[in-house]
This record gives sequence, structure tokens and C-alpha cells, in this order.
Amino acid sequence: MKQKQRLDKVLSNFGFGSRTEIKSAVKNGLVTVDGTVVKDSGLHVDPAESTVLMNGVKLQYRKYIYLMMNKPRGVISATTDTRQKTVFDILPEEYKCFDLFPAGRLDIDTEGLVLMTNDGQLAHEILSPKKHVTKQYYAHVQGRVEQADMEAFERGVTLDDGYKTLPASLEILRSDEISEVRLSIVEGKFHQVKRMFEAVGKKVIYLKRLSMGKLMLDENLGLGECRELTEEDVELLRTSVQKH
Ligand code: URA
Repeated sequence: MKQKQRLDKVLSNFGFGSRTEIKSAVKNGLVTVDGTVVKDSGLHVDPAESTVLMNGVKLQYRKYIYLMMNKPRGVISATTDTRQKTVFDILPEEYKCFDLFPAGRLDIDTEGLVLMTNDGQLAHEILSPKKHVTKQYYAHVQGRVEQADMEAFERGVTLDDGYKTLPASLEILRSDEISEVRLSIVEGKFHQVKRMFEAVGKKVIYLKRLSMGKLMLDENLGLGECRELTEEDVELLRTSVQKH
């Protein structure tokens, strides 16, 4: 979180009400900072350092925020961009004050699970190639995906730059002119899923990330929506990296 912020903003970000409600509470002397009644909502405070109370209720500062987003198409997994809409742009207002960044990228035309956090250590571990955290994708692929493709992915395929992929698990849900598959990979090379299918002569036409480690995308999240991870969710992520 940016260290010093307006008092009304801090209180509304931590769920104490709307900015208008908070402004009125401040005016009425119901807010204290480090034991002193404060009458100016615009006062800059550092919630990590100061004790803030409203109506006697203490603001519980959280250092780390973890969100899962169901990324829609047309949005890039970056924090800023001059031309394209980013996952940061579509965050609900109350999360924009935290220095959240996407832990891992999805292509602009890929949907699904993006983890956004300010916990650099956990993000680093999840993305570390050494940790082999499984990412599962659901895809529509042009052409019949067959047993031979499953075997090729299991052995590893050679991408256009000569890189041989680690064993990946392919599940064929429907084999037809447009096939439906689930693919689990333990790496995160640029455009990896699309390039793996290219390596077996096929084209991905729709891609969605379903999970990262043991953390599954919440099916109740519509495209563009996000929610905070529960403590159990964060634990799932931690144990996904600890087992290695
Ligand atoms: N693989 C891809 O090709 N694209 C993504 O967005 C994620 C994995």
C-alpha cells in the first residue's frame, strides 16, 4: 500500500463505509488517529504505522492483499499501458490504492484466472520455473486432438525456438473439427499453450486458465470480476509451492 493516504480513503478501503459516511463521521469527531480526535478527512496517515479508530472500532491493517480475477479478453496482464486496458484498470476502486500486480501473465485474448497481489515473495515463488507450479487451461483447438497429441505432450514437444517442453498432461474432452481439451503444464513460457499446439500442427482458438497450483478459478466470478482470496485459498497457494 502507498504509505501515506487520505484518512477517508484509508477508512473506506478497509470497509468502514462510503467516503461520504466517513467524512461525516470525521466531522462529528468519531475518528481518532493515535488517540487524538481528527476533524480533517484529508489528513494523510500511514495505516501501517498509526492506530486508527472509527466509533471505537480499530482499523485492522493488512499488509498483503490477494485477489483472483477472471480476466476477460481484450485486457492485458500489466499494471499500466498507454494503449490497452489492463487488469489494474478493471480492478474495483477500493483495490486501486494497493500496489497490486499480476502474478503471471495471460495473453490479451486469454480468459481466466489471474492472481493479483502485493506479496512479491509468494508471487515470485509461484512463477519460479524451479517450483513447477501446475497451471491448468481449458482450450478450444482447431482440428481433431487425438491420443497421439496426448502422448507427444507427455513426452514433451519442441517449440518454434527449439525449446523442448516438460511433460504436460492433456485431457481430451471432445475430439472434433473444433476440439475441447484441458491441458496442465508446469512451465510458463511465452504463449506456451498456443505454441505447444502449433508444435503438433494445431491452432488454439480459445484459451482460459482454470487454476494455478491448487487454486481454482471461482466459477461464480463473471468475466472481469474479482474477489479476495480467503485464508484457505492463500494456504492452497503456499502449499502448491512448498511441496517442491
Ligand atoms: N499459454 C498461452 O499460449 N497463452 C496464455 O495466455 C497462457 C498460456
